[in-house]
Amino acid sequence: MKVCIPVEVNTDELRVAATPKTVLRLKKQGFEVFVEKDAGLRSNFSNAEFIESGAQILDSSKEIYATADIILKVLAPNNKEIEMMHEGQVILSYLWPAQNLDLLEKLSKKGVNAIAMDAIPRISRAQKMDVLSSMANIAGYRAVIESANYFGRFLNGQITAAGKVEPAKVLVIGAGVAGLAAIGTANSLGAIVRAFDTRMEVEEQIQSMGAQFLKVDIEEDGSTDSGYSKTMSKEFIDAEMALFKKQAEEIDIIITTAQIPGRKAPTLILKEHVAVMKSGSVIVDLAASTGGNCELTVDNEIITTDNGVIIVGKLSQLPSQASQLYGNNLCHLLDDMGKAENFAIDMEDDIVSRAMVTYNGDINWPPKPLPVTSQKPKEEIVEIDDSPTPEEIAKKKAKSTIYSLVGIGIFLLLLGKVAPSDFMGHFTVFVLSIFIGWQVIWNVSHALHTPLMAVTNAISGIIVIGGLLQTQDNLSSPMTIIAFIAILVASINIVGGFFVTHRMLKMFKK
Ligand code: NAI
Repeated sequence: MKVCIPVEVNTDELRVAATPKTVLRLKKQGFEVFVEKDAGLRSNFSNAEFIESGAQILDSSKEIYATADIILKVLAPNNKEIEMMHEGQVILSYLWPAQNLDLLEKLSKKGVNAIAMDAIPRISRAQKMDVLSSMANIAGYRAVIESANYFGRFLNGQITAAGKVEPAKVLVIGAGVAGLAAIGTANSLGAIVRAFDTRMEVEEQIQSMGAQFLKVDIEEDGSTDSGYSKTMSKEFIDAEMALFKKQAEEIDIIITTAQIPGRKAPTLILKEHVAVMKSGSVIVDLAASTGGNCELTVDNEIITTDNGVIIVGKLSQLPSQASQLYGNNLCHLLDDMGKAENFAIDMEDDIVSRAMVTYNGDINWPPKPLPVTSQKPKEEIVEIDDSPTPEEIAKKKAKSTIYSLVGIGIFLLLLGKVAPSDFMGHFTVFVLSIFIGWQVIWNVSHALHTPLMAVTNAISGIIVIGGLLQTQDNLSSPMTIIAFIAILVASINIVGGFFVTHRMLKMFKK
């Protein structure tokens, strides 16, 4: 099967639908790959690089469209390109079917099977083919980098010999894919980041990316089964705007990404908000192409207001990187469709059936709804703590002490009946000292074991003195042997204690 990549006729589009790396992948999938001459130049990929990866270069778009079984494109084809297509051909590109029904008609009339990459459902299995996410991720990152460029100060706070520098304050409105990427980037550059979204479920995601989640005092959640936000009530939008007005006075950079699919982007930053912003502040409006979140945004332009606020309605692309990710998304979809050997259009498949907007001469739009997989907060696991309370432990201990004392008493009583009275006196002291020693040491908490070691060292010292007093001239007498053993064991305890203490002290030394 032949996969062809034409030049993007719109010269404002810098991306290309395949890169030398994705060509290698397409070859591995078993496709023959043809690239139109100079298709990659705007994304910094030369013809030679494509040839090296195994693609063949064709000189004209006519040849490309005549050769292709599958066409990979970025932007939707124009009339001239549709004319060059033929029946049964498959095209994968952005199509925006909801806004371009006439385009779908033209493609279906031609018998072209068109996959709208922007209509891939937002389900977990389709994440690797989701061009909206991969491009939104780049846009979110880029929004922060470009705003930092327009903003005339550091983003991170610094303490230098010349003085203290305050960190910049960044507000991200809308915490979808682009918003979360912006939060992560701004946070990693050291700014103080705040974020707002109508969907309460994103609170945890915002916080895990290092931003503060702002809230309004109205109980309304924008979350829907589709995973996207619903249009919010007027009261909510008013409360949101009041919040932004307060924030605008102290925020340095605002990045807006709020969108409602299929509708104009909500207007959230009004002229009066911009008016209270400090001179030199920056607004990057990622919703510029769908009407803008800021009232003053001009799509595809960068303007400066009278009070010195820079409003960015256009971001420069990262064409090489964006082409690479877009090309990867296309390869993943072709993988899913059976690669070259088993390539098939399965209209029962959740992804293909929804993204295939024209099929066998028919228009297949709008698709059946499929709930978006959004990251739901994890269910809280309530652990039942059945461990005993401190009072219960104390009670248990007291009980066992009483039982032990009673046991010892009975034992000594029985022993006293048979043993001589001399022996009984010493033996009782011996048993009670073991009991008291055990009680004392057992009840010391682990944190106090080091001070305890000092005490046992002192006790060991007494044993050493006692042992020395008991040694006799006759080295082989039982008393001397026992005294020697006592001195040895006590000395080991003392030396070991000092050794362990020394090691522990070393842990605290730098
Ligand atoms: P989007 O670009 O349509 O919207 C961006 C954000 O703007 C959304 O978070 C939305 O809640 C917010 N928003 C709308 N109106 C607002 C207002 N008045 N004020 C403040 N914020 C407002 O959304 P995106 O980034 O395309 O993703 C939306 C959903 O799709 C998310 O739930 C995401 O988790 C999910 N998703 C799922 C994928 C999957 O494969 N499972 C892939 C990508 C996204």
